[in-house]
Amino acid sequence: MKVLLFLSVGLGLTWALQDQTNVPVAPYFVPEQVTGSWHTFKLAATDPSVVEEGGAYRCFMTGIVLLDNGNLNVTYLHREDGKCVEKFYIAKKTETPGRYTFDYQGKNFLTFMDVTEDYTIIDLESKVGSLIVTELHARSLSTSDVGWDYYFSHTCRRGISPLDIEDLSFSRECDTL
Ligand SMILES: *[C@@H]1O[C@H](CO)[C@@H](O)[C@H](O)[C@H]1NC(C)=O
Repeated sequence: MKVLLFLSVGLGLTWALQDQTNVPVAPYFVPEQVTGSWHTFKLAATDPSVVEEGGAYRCFMTGIVLLDNGNLNVTYLHREDGKCVEKFYIAKKTETPGRYTFDYQGKNFLTFMDVTEDYTIIDLESKVGSLIVTELHARSLSTSDVGWDYYFSHTCRRGISPLDIEDLSFSRECDTL
């Protein structure tokens, strides 16, 4: 009985705590660091089909605008009914700088884990079905230091096989895939 109770409390807490224990936020994060244009280089997910061709999370992040209220307006290209469409999603800030909530197919946590002048690594965790998506985005197509090592190790740590990492760096827009 005690074990059961402990287990259920543990499960209940998992959602609340997991983002803090498994997903460190980029240190000294300020939102201005991530505004501007981006190119999506890599995507991977605990359910690989969601980032494969036709998957709901196969999205190309192309830009971020900081809104007056501190939220982020994020632009994505996404294929819908065979067409490449531009969509805007709002990442709402939380008390933790670098961590946002994000409504897409349910509620998600969006965490900027690493940000440099050249790249950013994002961890997206969905409450629905506990889906995790790891993303690597670069400022420029010619960037050589794209944080690959950190992205690789974080992806493995999240239980995603490196074999399932999708390389999108050669796909300039979603309709050229
Ligand atoms: C996000 O940006 C798009 C494109 O500029 C704009 O149409 C939309 O109104 C913006 N959303 C918010 C909430 O500011």
